[in-house]
Amino acid sequence: MEFVDYQQEIKELKKANRILQKQLERSEVDRVKLEETNEKKEYLLRKVIGELKEYQNNLEKRSHELEMMLLNLQIMQNKMSSLGSLVADVAHEINNPVGFIAGNLTPAQEYIQNLLHLIELYQKTYPQASQEIQEIIKEMDLEYVRKDLPKLISSMREGTNRISSISNSLRTFSRADTEQKVMFNLHEGIDNTLLILKHRLKDNNTRPAIQVVRNYGDLPLLLCFPGQLNQVFMNLLANAIDALDEANSGLGFDEIKKNPNQIIIDTAPNKDKNHVLIKIQDNGVGISADIQQKMFEHLFTTKSVGKGTGLGLSIAYQIIVQKHRGTLEVKSVLGKGSEFIISIPLS
Ligand SMILES: Nc1ncnc2c1ncn2[C@@H]1O[C@H](COP(=O)(O)OP(=O)(O)OP(=O)(O)O)[C@@H](O)[C@H]1O
Ligand SMILES: [Mg+2]
Repeated sequence: MEFVDYQQEIKELKKANRILQKQLERSEVDRVKLEETNEKKEYLLRKVIGELKEYQNNLEKRSHELEMMLLNLQIMQNKMSSLGSLVADVAHEINNPVGFIAGNLTPAQEYIQNLLHLIELYQKTYPQASQEIQEIIKEMDLEYVRKDLPKLISSMREGTNRISSISNSLRTFSRADTEQKVMFNLHEGIDNTLLILKHRLKDNNTRPAIQVVRNYGDLPLLLCFPGQLNQVFMNLLANAIDALDEANSGLGFDEIKKNPNQIIIDTAPNKDKNHVLIKIQDNGVGISADIQQKMFEHLFTTKSVGKGTGLGLSIAYQIIVQKHRGTLEVKSVLGKGSEFIISIPLS
């Protein structure tokens, strides 16, 4: 009986031993597997750490670049604002002497008329002038002078008027911007901007003048930052002129004349009368869908160095959207032209 039990026990022990051995084998396999996965994990971890380090380096580089860019922008902004006040000062200085000239033109005209009248009277009273006087009258072409002098004076008056309106525009345009929003006549802002851009709009050797059509609607005064909105008009109009110049390339004067360069400015309140809408349209090169995606980005430009910095639209966007809670949209057909639509809430 006892013998049978031993046999049984040995059998069971052997079985347990086999099971243990199998378990051992399995755990050995598991251990190897674990080691392998650990190695893999370690490798991945090292790779991730490496990538993170590279990313960090790139970020540091980028943040350094951004810091430099910000610094440059601040320098530029500083330059612009000192340039702005310089322009305002110069414009003011110009107004004074122009005022003298304009002020003296009226008495000068009167004196001239009196003198001419006196000469006429002399001629009537003494029709038989001496030989010397007759010669001088002929030499100086008295008849012509008599006709031309008044024209000369009025063109001088026209000139001084123009100088003072330009210098007034420069002053309004470049005045330091107010800290708080003030009531502003948008049409005045657009007109001033157009006057400042006049030298770029008028005709030259290669093309006729750019036609500017102003369809001004009935707009109320707008509570806004006037200097900033003038900046927006300036940036959009300058872009329109650039786009027209680009469209002209390769075309002769007469060809351009047949399909004239045009900028159309529409203003109107929206239907609900709670927004003002300003549309600036050109028939220049137009903008591809691809560029439309990117053109409001900071520093994006398709123009050559020195011609464009790629700041105009991003600044305009910031001024309209962030400073005035409005919207700035674009519609364009490549080869036909573009339209920029500004919408600003009235309250
Ligand atoms: N009216 C337009 N017609 C065609 N393309 C335009 C027009 N306005 C803007 N663009 C395109 O958008 C780009 C970005 O314009 P943005 O005014 O921001 O910069 P820029 O004119 O190139 O340079 P900057 O205004 O700083 O001198 C331009 O380079 C141009 O390709
Ligand atoms: Mg521009």
